[in-house]
Amino acid sequence: MRSQGQAAWELLLPAAGAPPRRRGRALQEALREAVRSGRLAAGTRLPSTRALAADLGVSRGLVTEAYEQLTAEGYLRSDRGAGTWVGGAARAATRGARDLAAGTPGIRIDFRPGTPDLSLFPRSAWAAAQRSVLTRLPHPSLGYPDPRGLPALREALAALLARRRGVVADPERLVVCSGVAQASTLLGFVLRARGHDRVGIEDPGSPEHGRLFASTGLDTVWLPLDEDGLRPGPLADSGVRAVVVTPSHQFPSGISWSAERRAALLDWARAVDGYVLEDDYDGDFRYDRAPVGALQGLDPERVAYAGSVSKSLAPGLRLGWLLVPEALLDEVVERKRTMDLGNPVLDQAVLAEFVTRGGYDRQLRRCQRAYRERRDALLAALAEHLPGTRVSGIAAGLHVIARVPAGFGPPERFLARAAEAGVALRSLEEYGTARPADGDVRLVIGYAHLAPSAVTTGIRLVAEALGRG
Ligand SMILES: Cc1ncc(COP(=O)(O)O)c(C=O)c1O
Repeated sequence: MRSQGQAAWELLLPAAGAPPRRRGRALQEALREAVRSGRLAAGTRLPSTRALAADLGVSRGLVTEAYEQLTAEGYLRSDRGAGTWVGGAARAATRGARDLAAGTPGIRIDFRPGTPDLSLFPRSAWAAAQRSVLTRLPHPSLGYPDPRGLPALREALAALLARRRGVVADPERLVVCSGVAQASTLLGFVLRARGHDRVGIEDPGSPEHGRLFASTGLDTVWLPLDEDGLRPGPLADSGVRAVVVTPSHQFPSGISWSAERRAALLDWARAVDGYVLEDDYDGDFRYDRAPVGALQGLDPERVAYAGSVSKSLAPGLRLGWLLVPEALLDEVVERKRTMDLGNPVLDQAVLAEFVTRGGYDRQLRRCQRAYRERRDALLAALAEHLPGTRVSGIAAGLHVIARVPAGFGPPERFLARAAEAGVALRSLEEYGTARPADGDVRLVIGYAHLAPSAVTTGIRLVAEALGRG
């Protein structure tokens, strides 16, 4: 039975806010709809009536009534001692609804990486922070903000990043922006104005980096990686004086850069009077040990550090940050000012409230639990259905690299069969220039947005499509 940690009880909040006379019925409808739509998957354990009533701010009697009603209807099952969980009878409806929810016609299970589980967004805590901000924010705070962002948010983020990621975080040097994407373009424009014409990117790496820098007039140069990080020889030979890297959990290979390569990169940056943009896109999630601290902590004058809430809360919030070396600060801030005069004040104030009240840490703990469980489910499914598959990279983030033996290939056939079975997968080749000829299928599998049962189903469907089920 699956634990309740991954369920999205916030789904029920609108019902809990219904007028008292309709509240009981609204709660039952919302719960029924959550099961039907697949938001609450078969096997998901429900919280105790006492806990859910407290979370939703409704009477326990209403929750008990809803559980009893839905149990009678077959949506839920309950057992004295084992509690209440989503029943298997709803499974057929659940699967159909999830197929629709996958978004792209024909896709049943979408393993493409990049998205967290959006149903884990902490709606009730966010709503509370919003209410609190609207109540107490003084009128003058609604004027044009400092283009760097609200002081309260910059202070909260500086403390958070110093504590969680080991960065040297001076609130004066922190620029709130709309994600790593804007952080990259801010820095790109500044480098371009300083005479840079090319930026190095990791190979394999995120194609998005290339597109973002292109929008600032900068070309990008692929720089090869090995299992320790960027190879120093090609980096030195490239002639670039700026690179963007993902050292904590390299995207997409999943390695963590070795200490030697981190030091070598900083030596290089000092030698060429260059800069490093550290994209810490998913640095908070590590499942086997504490995350390795950010590179920026080793040399804040050479490393600009970028992060966002896109993986921890939701990419749609478009909220992120850039910690800027002193020498570039004025130019970056002026760019931010001329771009949009600063990020929306209310969003910033809500995030500040959420961070300072401990909501952000709680959210990370909650996601960490859910994602670790999903990663375990993926590894188990690969071992069972595609035996011989090797998973590489550290136990971290929202995706893994899986190398499926040539016997299941060739890669084009493998991907085509998976697609026919309704399973969307990305191959590692889409992220770089390497084209190994060994016949193995190298996959970048995103798992965090999928329930463990969907992860298992997806891998089983691929194996069946290959005639290996
Ligand atoms: C490597 C990498 N960096 C950064 C991001 C996130 O960018 P943003 O913070 O602008 O949402 C992504 C998005 O998936 C990514 O894959």
